[in-house]
Amino acid sequence: MIAKTLLPTMASVAILASSALPALADTAQRPDYPVAAQVHPEQWPEVAFPIVLTEKSETRVQAILARMTLEQKVGQIIQADIASVTPDDVRRYRLGSVLNGGNSGPGGDDFAPAEKWLELADALYEASIDVPPNEPRIPIIWGTDAVHGHSNIVGATIFPHNVGLGAARDPALIERIGQVTAVEIRVTGQEWTFAPTVAVPQDYRWGRAYEGYSSDPALVAAYAGAMIRGLQGPASTTPILAGSHVAASTKHYLADGGTTDGRDQGDAAISELELRLIHGAPYIPAMENGVATVMTSFSSWNGVKLAGHRGLVTDVLKDRMNFGGLVVTDWNAHGQVAGCSNASCPRAVDAGIDMFMAPDSWRSLYDTTLAQVRDGTIAMDRLDDAVARVLRVKLRLGLFDMGKPSERALSGQYELLGSADHRAVAREAVRKSMVLLKNTGVLPLKPGGRILVAGDAADDIGRQSGGWTLSWQGTGLGNDLFPGATSLWRGIEEAAAATGGSAELAIDGQFAERPDAAIVVFGETPYAEFQGDIVTLQLRPELRGPIATMRRLKEQGIPVVAVMITGRPLYINEALNAADAFVTAWLPGSEGGGVADMLFSGADGLPTHEFRGLLPASWPATALHGGKTLFPFGYGLRYADGPRGWITLPEDSGVDDDGSDGRVFFERGTPASSWSLNISHADGSDSLRITTIPAEALEGRVRVTATDYGVQEGARSFAIDANDRGTAIELAAFDSTDLTRETNGDLLLLSTVRIDAALTQPLRMSVRCGGERCGQEVPIAEFGDLSSGEWRVVGIPLKCFSAAGAEMNAITSPFRMTSVGAAEFSIARIALGSLSEAHVVADCPTD
Ligand code: BGC
Ligand code: BGC
Repeated sequence: MIAKTLLPTMASVAILASSALPALADTAQRPDYPVAAQVHPEQWPEVAFPIVLTEKSETRVQAILARMTLEQKVGQIIQADIASVTPDDVRRYRLGSVLNGGNSGPGGDDFAPAEKWLELADALYEASIDVPPNEPRIPIIWGTDAVHGHSNIVGATIFPHNVGLGAARDPALIERIGQVTAVEIRVTGQEWTFAPTVAVPQDYRWGRAYEGYSSDPALVAAYAGAMIRGLQGPASTTPILAGSHVAASTKHYLADGGTTDGRDQGDAAISELELRLIHGAPYIPAMENGVATVMTSFSSWNGVKLAGHRGLVTDVLKDRMNFGGLVVTDWNAHGQVAGCSNASCPRAVDAGIDMFMAPDSWRSLYDTTLAQVRDGTIAMDRLDDAVARVLRVKLRLGLFDMGKPSERALSGQYELLGSADHRAVAREAVRKSMVLLKNTGVLPLKPGGRILVAGDAADDIGRQSGGWTLSWQGTGLGNDLFPGATSLWRGIEEAAAATGGSAELAIDGQFAERPDAAIVVFGETPYAEFQGDIVTLQLRPELRGPIATMRRLKEQGIPVVAVMITGRPLYINEALNAADAFVTAWLPGSEGGGVADMLFSGADGLPTHEFRGLLPASWPATALHGGKTLFPFGYGLRYADGPRGWITLPEDSGVDDDGSDGRVFFERGTPASSWSLNISHADGSDSLRITTIPAEALEGRVRVTATDYGVQEGARSFAIDANDRGTAIELAAFDSTDLTRETNGDLLLLSTVRIDAALTQPLRMSVRCGGERCGQEVPIAEFGDLSSGEWRVVGIPLKCFSAAGAEMNAITSPFRMTSVGAAEFSIARIALGSLSEAHVVADCPTD
């Protein structure tokens, strides 16, 4: 349970809960919404939004507005991504804002040094105020996803992701994290962070669940205000940029954590009461603390996308909860509103959106929006209101009077990025976020011992940092990209040495010298939006290797401490049984030393730090969402309680366990259920379904045999003669599959192949839609570049197929390979997956 003292906002939540439900009010009825998506604003809390600009400032807003051209007004409500916009564009279109998306950095370099970020901030600022004398100069505002520290910048302090902070139960710490993050943002010249995420995840299969502090609305509400105060300063702080602060954003409004089956960008099919009490709770402290901006969610409530939901955006947030800042949409989310596209969405403006996040679509959106204001589709009043809100945020920041980014407080003080003081706060957060789930007595580790450190997550800072770190999904980052950071291994090595002992790193657990105890670090690999969505609550099979290591070490009589890196509670009974102690470290970030702090005792044999982390969400006993709970919300052991006995848990995840989540089409020589492997002429004639091997198709021109991969006969070899009519090998299903989201989510078609004889002509790939051929065939030159005899995973971005004209919403064959020339190759696996899983990525047009 959380202590009452941590919950200054409990009172408001209680008021919410007790408010009666009056009969349907007609004020907010929107005839074009389904009844289930109608809101009743009078049932929502009235909140006092503290930021009332002085009369003088408001006069200034109105004076600027009065001098603005229509083009300037439209420009102010559009935000472009730095990967798709230049300072010249900003000058020409008078854009109001830019952002850097997860994969964008100055000069196209996501890992650009801090100086480059500040230089670009200056260039954008200069361009934004370079207007003819008759137009007001309106400085641009730059938003960034500083979601766990200034997390796009190499060398910045990376804090634990929010799920870990939820375990810490410490709002004062959250406020300090906000302060540190704001300072680091100011060093590189940005003024706005798209944080805090105040999602209240109700289903941890959601790939963004770790961005939320907790499944408990009261806990999230207790943190929201603290983080906003840390980032922006107390609500009375004006101008925000005069000190060491930035503008914050609460996201994603509303019920991003409440979608059915935890599907990213899905639909929250819940009652208005649930919407308000669970997902609305953090918005009360957010309003009370004067959050400058709110980002709408990609998701829907009862079928209506939030970016187009006037009832929730205008009637509830602005009119009832008195939100005085600006509402920004999410990344092209307006394109998902009914009747809209990325290039046009008057409905979002009508709903109350004040700024479009139009990363790459800003130019066409600008043109259509301008035309729509001119022809009256968008009301002038609404545009003026949106622009006034943008101007108020800019005025509150002090943008008009602060000079260019490099002239402002803290700018260019690069030594503040990842400074010792900042890292100390992060290390404290790591310590406080760790949750001890099992300890039969091995912890704390005694001073002076030999410690073996094993497990594939032991020495990998990218992995311990998770998604939204330097890149969007956070995959494939080497330790060299984290100067000044500490991996778990390094932290343990230092701690062992400090107590007069020693440590050895052996990922596979094969030690050189027998240790006194082993620490095995394992768990999830990084993921972010959508790519992290899973169907069952368990670790992917290929990540379970370290559990075998734990068992082996135990058989050798070596006590084992398991440390799990994870964005969410998962079924993991095998590891809980195998280890003598089990600690959940969540996604701790750059200060791995904080993990080691918790594991060792001092010279006196007493623990140096007490565990205080408590589960921010319940821990499952099976892999089924909504199944039995193993450890309830709020669970966590303490050293003070002493060692505890352990009753062996059943090792039954309760689900069919291929771990593939429906994304594997072919493996171990066989198609997944509902898919078949067919060989035909390229025009589809003479099709043969391959069910046994060896097999021959097209009158002996194609021969299929078994070959080994992983297991005996784990793959299929194809020997194809030259064929003027073309030979097609495809995986087909009777029912079509919708791969739109997979395509937008940047997934790839991964083929594990081995070229057995140099290709004479390129292999071509395509997909089939609704049973028909669709789109162009794409030649994949990369197959020809593979050296013969070697297994490689070739990734083809799904976007290649959509760009070639395929309708990704009705795929009946996700893999269709054609060859005119003779060819010999083998295929072991065909699946969907992410960039990090591919050895080679096909270079094909993706737009
Ligand atoms: C995410 C937001 C993020 C934005 C900018 C979106 O896809 O949903 O959380 O702030 O991108 O990177
Ligand atoms: C961007 C992210 C964005 C995402 C949305 C990515 O390419 O880098 O910032 O949130 O696309 O799909």
